[in-house]
Amino acid sequence: MMKRRSFLANTTLLSAGLAASSGFAIAQGGKPSKIKFGLIGCGGRGKGAVQNFREACKILGIESELVAVADAFGGQALAVGKANGVPEDRCYGGYDAYQKVIASDCQYVLMATPPSFRPLHFAAAVEAGKHCFIEKPVAVDPVGCHSVIATGEKAAAKGLAVVTGTQRRHTAGYLKNKALIDAGAIGPIRGGVVQWNGTVPWIKRRNEGESDADYMARNWLNFCETSGDHIVEQHIHNLDVACWFLGRMPVTALGFGGRARRETGNMFDFFSVDYDFGDGVHIHSQCRQISGTYGRVGEFFTGTEGECLGGGKITGRDVQVPEIKLDTNNGMVQEHVDMIRGVIEGKPLNHARRIAEVTLVAVIGRMSAYTGQLIRWSDVMSNENSPLFSFACKPTAEDFEKGSVVMPAEVPAVPGQA
Ligand SMILES: NC(=O)c1ccc[n+]([C@@H]2O[C@H](COP(=O)([O-])OP(=O)(O)OC[C@H]3O[C@@H](n4cnc5c(N)ncnc54)[C@H](O)[C@@H]3O)[C@@H](O)[C@H]2O)c1
Repeated sequence: MMKRRSFLANTTLLSAGLAASSGFAIAQGGKPSKIKFGLIGCGGRGKGAVQNFREACKILGIESELVAVADAFGGQALAVGKANGVPEDRCYGGYDAYQKVIASDCQYVLMATPPSFRPLHFAAAVEAGKHCFIEKPVAVDPVGCHSVIATGEKAAAKGLAVVTGTQRRHTAGYLKNKALIDAGAIGPIRGGVVQWNGTVPWIKRRNEGESDADYMARNWLNFCETSGDHIVEQHIHNLDVACWFLGRMPVTALGFGGRARRETGNMFDFFSVDYDFGDGVHIHSQCRQISGTYGRVGEFFTGTEGECLGGGKITGRDVQVPEIKLDTNNGMVQEHVDMIRGVIEGKPLNHARRIAEVTLVAVIGRMSAYTGQLIRWSDVMSNENSPLFSFACKPTAEDFEKGSVVMPAEVPAVPGQA
């Protein structure tokens, strides 16, 4: 068990250390007999996360109860609540429904709405003292990412857990390869390619008389303002592996992309981005959502001494690392086990900054492709004088709650001049 934990994200130790050194006493959680949890966003992943959370509780020998659910659409909340034994009067609909889940007696909140809503919902959940599972990505723009970082710091101060849905970080193959790379198996990484080339998961057409807000919330996967575009929404998994294995963030992104086949919304359907990680190290990021094209999802890195294929085959120097022992082969369950165990042991995991920064890495790739410009990491991360630092997509999550959503035109960005 100790071996496994030594490979889990350094942030475990960091957040515990930070809390101790800044004088905040994190209460020793102890193992509860039962955990009450709530869900915001009752779609595919929300339903899956409920099952994953329950399975994690079972592994830890803890009873679990889903006590409240929320969705923008009341019918969706009711269907998922009903299927999971939640009383009808605790199934909430509407753009403010998240507040009711957060106000319930749940101790953990699972958030699986479109990512544009995450910063607002996460801030409210931490304010109310809830442990948070925040699905990736956690925002769609720099303002949202900075908000998540700030909320993550509040969560750390309160001793709350923050875990995200980057399941590769909770699977044995990836954890082992990361350990091997850190032990010098392939030498310093000199370059690589990360890819999510697939098809459009789904599109939804506008219903007769439907409001801008409801259409965007239903068809969120095809609007940049709600999903961040697919480089953020989907390809983030592979970009996360690149940043994790390299142990640093890129310096610049220079990319292009466009829209060839997508039929609704305003997103691109292909991107090709060169991420410069400094010291001559480049990672080529490629993602596409077009049916009938060659599909490949994964990560490949070349080092001075060998090569590594994501969480799979690795060749190079013969180095030894401790065996990775997990509770389950399913990373989407293991991430919940790790979250709950951290709380029980009084060392809550806090991955807020990590996932916010990786979200921002994907955002600069999109920004470069949309504008045709080279985008610097420092301009979105630390240079408060840059207009990119305070860039926010509109409509915002607050607009949905206030009822002031104006849908953007369903046309993609076009960089450059004719
Ligand atoms: N970790 C993974 O591998 C993985 C896989 C799939 C999806 N995801 C992520 O999970 C999130 C949800 O994706 P999904 O596939 O479940 O989408 P989905 O469309 O199936 O579900 C989203 C749900 O959120 C609801 N919703 C929209 N706006 C809302 C609001 N303001 N308040 C409350 N509910 C709202 C929608 O009505 C819908 O029911 C996304 O961030 C996505 O990127 C992660």
